[in-house]
Amino acid sequence: MNPIASSEAGPFITGDLSGPMQRPLTLVILGAGARGSAYADLATKRPDTARVVAVAEPRRHVRAAFAAKHHIETDLQLTHWRDLLDRPRLADVAVILDSGHVEAAFALADRGYELLLEKPMATDEASCLAIAEAARRNGTVLALAHVLRYTPYTVKLKQLLLEGAIGDIVSLQHLEPIGYYHFAHSFVRGNWRREAESSPLLLAKSCHDIDWIADLVEDEVARVSSFGSLSHIRPDAAPEGAADRCVSCPLQDTWQYSATRLYRTGLRDDGTKQYLTKIMTAGRLTEAAVTAELTDGPYGRCVYHSDNDVPDHQVVNLEFDAGVTASFTLTAFTPLENRHTKIFGTRGQLAGDGQSIEVYDFFGETRTSCSIPGARGP
Ligand SMILES: NC(=O)c1ccc[n+]([C@@H]2O[C@H](COP(=O)([O-])OP(=O)(O)OC[C@H]3O[C@@H](n4cnc5c(N)ncnc54)[C@H](O)[C@@H]3O)[C@@H](O)[C@H]2O)c1
Repeated sequence: MNPIASSEAGPFITGDLSGPMQRPLTLVILGAGARGSAYADLATKRPDTARVVAVAEPRRHVRAAFAAKHHIETDLQLTHWRDLLDRPRLADVAVILDSGHVEAAFALADRGYELLLEKPMATDEASCLAIAEAARRNGTVLALAHVLRYTPYTVKLKQLLLEGAIGDIVSLQHLEPIGYYHFAHSFVRGNWRREAESSPLLLAKSCHDIDWIADLVEDEVARVSSFGSLSHIRPDAAPEGAADRCVSCPLQDTWQYSATRLYRTGLRDDGTKQYLTKIMTAGRLTEAAVTAELTDGPYGRCVYHSDNDVPDHQVVNLEFDAGVTASFTLTAFTPLENRHTKIFGTRGQLAGDGQSIEVYDFFGETRTSCSIPGARGP
């Protein structure tokens, strides 16, 4: 059971949050964008576990829509995470989603909040260590959203490894197929396109994968090599006649990276394209909102004439202390698919694609498969 501590602002659940809860956790969401909305929607689906009581979000219409959806009182609708510092503690947990993780994590740990921090925790080692120290100093629970570890697929895969289905792991091969239009949205036109303003591609997209591989192997990394580059989505690869914006481009109906094609499809179709269109228009799924963003917003830019500098493909090789090796590839140039993994063991091979797992046993020369329904990973 988690203890309930009293403070001037009221009783809050503190300490180890992994045990049975005495009541749903209260959450303040700092950044009501894509992830903030996803967490809040989850809380709505599981009111027995969590309840959103406050929000900090600078964009007024986003804040208003979020507050209305989650029934947040007017005086608990804040503009900036710093507004929390002038007030008594408002909730058990601060869910920190904007890019100012480091400063917010320090300040809110000192105010007594338990912390759920989106990845990446920080963009340099010193800041990661400093956040961990702030949490330690305050006795704060610090959770990092490495969600890939906890999917039903990963749970099943780890269970098979623990049962010895393939013996001991010798090496593994892992692919993150980002998907060409998802890459164009997030890493060419969107928030994570420039290393200096966000973080390196590997940290932004695949800190999940490196964490996941290390979690499976259960060992420390001894040696690393990595290579990557921005090979195609750059100005000198622009097709003949490409305009700076897709709305005025003669190629808009025939080119794979056309923003008009992607975001207008998102108006009609469910799924990932609609999710990306909602991000572009801050939730307004109308023809007018899409046209306005295509005309003036960052997501209407030609991919070849954006200001992106992160690589569009990268490989990482890892050698663990006990000699296990892993090779990891992330690339823009794929359909949008689940991650693919092959794990090579002393008595068999395991192949998985996020939804199904096949084990090949060397002795019996048998193949055993199972399916695990669930959404695509982060
Ligand atoms: N765990 C995962 O699988 C996963 C997936 C995608 C993104 N992320 C991470 O989640 C974080 C947020 O990503 P997102 O896609 O929701 O981005 P987003 O841009 O949709 O949302 C960020 C929100 O923070 C708000 N914000 C900016 N400054 C603020 C401030 N000072 N105070 C309060 N709010 C502020 C922005 O207005 C925006 O609404 C990033 O760190 C990203 O790396 C994690």
